[in-house]
Amino acid sequence: MNIVHPDQAVELAPGVHWIGALDPHLRRFDIILSTANGTSYNAYLVRGEHGVAVIDTVKEGFADDFFRRLESVARYDEITTIVLNHLEPDHSGALPELLRRAPNARVYLSVRAQMMLKALLKPSAGVAPPEYTPVTTGDTIDLGGRTLAFFHTPYLHWPDTQCTWLVEEGMLFSGDVFGCHYCDPRLFNDRVGDFRFSFEYYYAHIMRPFRAHVLDALELLDPLDIRLIAPAHGPILRHRPRDYLARYREMATPRLALDTDAQGEKTLAVFYLSAYGNTRSMAEAIAVGAERIAGVRVSLFDLEGGETAHFIDLIEAADGLAFGSPTLNGDAAPPIWSLLSSLTTVNVKGKFGAAFGSYGWSGEAVRLIEDRLRGLKLRVPVEGLRLKLVPDAAELDACRTLGETLARHLVGEAMPRELDMASL
Ligand code: FEO
Repeated sequence: MNIVHPDQAVELAPGVHWIGALDPHLRRFDIILSTANGTSYNAYLVRGEHGVAVIDTVKEGFADDFFRRLESVARYDEITTIVLNHLEPDHSGALPELLRRAPNARVYLSVRAQMMLKALLKPSAGVAPPEYTPVTTGDTIDLGGRTLAFFHTPYLHWPDTQCTWLVEEGMLFSGDVFGCHYCDPRLFNDRVGDFRFSFEYYYAHIMRPFRAHVLDALELLDPLDIRLIAPAHGPILRHRPRDYLARYREMATPRLALDTDAQGEKTLAVFYLSAYGNTRSMAEAIAVGAERIAGVRVSLFDLEGGETAHFIDLIEAADGLAFGSPTLNGDAAPPIWSLLSSLTTVNVKGKFGAAFGSYGWSGEAVRLIEDRLRGLKLRVPVEGLRLKLVPDAAELDACRTLGETLARHLVGEAMPRELDMASL
């Protein structure tokens, strides 16, 4: 049975309501995310004895739904407080109009959100900039019998993101965190359909690049006696809410990294493609060279025989990455680009990287891969190795040296690379 009514807010507790909007027909979010059954833009209202707070708004095109639901439980002149957990337009789209209708409200937002608020409310928005107060962990607002406390949780998934905690009810208004693109008018996690895939898909594409920040946020939120999580998208998590913190912790903790850390090892993953076996020979020699260094575990993968999704897990866990490709029509082979383009969902910044490959005529692939690795903010301490056709004994020795040098960097034994300025 549907819980969401077109004109009514949905009560979460006396004086606490969902006033968001459903978008069941959306099939693409932010261009890149599939949304097989749409999404929701969740906004909330909290009533205290001397003030009403609105927490987040909705995407601009859904403002009418938001305002109808808001008006079903509060008057605009009662609104003293607007909390912005995150200023991305799917949550701030109705903000200019809300500020027009509730001009006396003070805005509370994270320190990092201040600049975004100014950008959002340029003169063209047609509304006077509101009074606002930057808040962080430890700050609270007293609405009269209802206390909002703030938690600084940046990069989940923008610099501005924060969570808001309704102390007396044990409710966490979490912004995008613990959200998902899953639209269901039954609204609560114990009533909607099976949304596990959407929850994990959302994590994988939105939160995963910020894994370290997820773990920091969990440290902040874990001590709370959470009775309900009210995210900015998808079902409201009132049944076993702590399960969702546990699932986030699992997803943010790469299994491979844990296993490897237990042995104090560093990991190097070598990926290659080979048309005639020459780049494969180079990859194998690089692996042999890297294994000369104690404390480095090397994995070798032929991209012709693998699924990219699994490789992303390996790459996230690895300390070093080497990519080998022949040159085809002046470029690296497409599977290399496919794998490298999929790395937008993991944070590879600071890992060590290297490129190598055999070529017939021009050999551009190695330099192009190196450029991409630097673009992803990997450290590339060893000049890429490009060899013409079949590597001879001396060239295979150079491959082993590349592997060994890269491995020395992984264990902290190598000096930084000295650049030959003439080569730049
Ligand atoms: Fe749902 Fe990052 O906006």
